[in-house]
Order: sequence, then C-alpha cells, then structure tokens
Amino acid sequence: MQVVKAISDIRALRQKLSGTVGFVPTMGFLHEGHLALVKRAKAENSTAIVSIYVNPTQFGPREDFGAYPRDLDRDLELLRKGGADIVFVPSDGEMYPAEFSSWVDVEKVTERLEGASRPGHFRGVATVVAKLFNIVQPTRAYFGQKDAQQVVVIKRMVADLNMNLEVVVVPTVRESDGLA
Ligand code: PAF
Repeated sequence: MQVVKAISDIRALRQKLSGTVGFVPTMGFLHEGHLALVKRAKAENSTAIVSIYVNPTQFGPREDFGAYPRDLDRDLELLRKGGADIVFVPSDGEMYPAEFSSWVDVEKVTERLEGASRPGHFRGVATVVAKLFNIVQPTRAYFGQKDAQQVVVIKRMVADLNMNLEVVVVPTVRESDGLA
C-alpha cells in the first residue's frame, strides 16, 4: 500500500494505472462502514484508492473542526488490512491554498434536512469531493447510504457537472444492536 501526500504525486501515480480505479473519500477515523466501501471498491476495480482528509470547509463556525477525531496510524493499518492500494492524505495548504476562491454550490437538494441545520456544510462537501474527483480521476466512487442526503448531493453534482464517473452507493453496515 502506498501513502501519498502531494497532489502532484497522486496524479503521477494515477497516470501510470491501467484498468479501473475505485475511490473512497473519507475523513479518517475509520470504522466498519468505511472498510465495507473499501472492500467493494477493491472487488469491483483494478485499484482501490482511499483519501483521508478532514475537510475544514464542511464544518460550520460553531462546529468543532479541531475536535474531529484523528488517528492516521490506526487508519493506515486498517486500510492495509482492508486491501487499499493507495491512500491519499493531502494537507490543508495543498487543498485550500491562500488564494482559493472557487466553490461548488448544489442548490435545491441541499435546502432541507441536514442542509437546513448546517448552512454551508454541503457546499464544503461538494467542493472537496469535486476537487478529489478531479485529482484522483476515479472510474467509480463509493459512498455509504447512511449519509443519504450527501449521496443525493454528490449524485446531483456528478450529473450536473458531467463528471465522468459512476457513484456507487453501499448499504449501511449495522452493529448487532442496529447502530449504523
Ligand atoms: O462523508 C464524509 O466522510 C465526508 O463528507 C467526505 C465525503 C469524505 C467529504 O469530506
């Protein structure tokens, strides 16, 4: 498993890959749900790429971005065992350089539910996912059904912006007590 930090390095690796690429974007602190996405990406593609990036732009001013749990060593160990081929771990400086000023705003489907209670959240999600898709150029991208509104937003963005990839939605993994 290769761990890559720079955008130029993941692009160089991607160019050398033949066959299909399955991509799982995550914010790390991985659990069984993420590993089910990786397993599926690996089973359906020649290469499975996972990103770990706690995206600051999807946190509201009253949400604690700093307190979001992080454990990169543990995540990498889980991904090694889970069959990921490449893990992309970009820095804030590369993802959002000082002059950054372009956003992806998906309208209508973001106006209700979580979108209503977390203004700006889905703008941050759509923007970072669009950036990651542009960088990784996946054949298929895998998302959990658990985050149902996020799935709708990403599917809308992919269709509206003619992104050349398939969004695969994977059923929710539940613990024995039913917890998603
Ligand atoms: O679902 C998540 O973990 C995040 O919203 C995502 C899709 C990785 C974007 O930061």
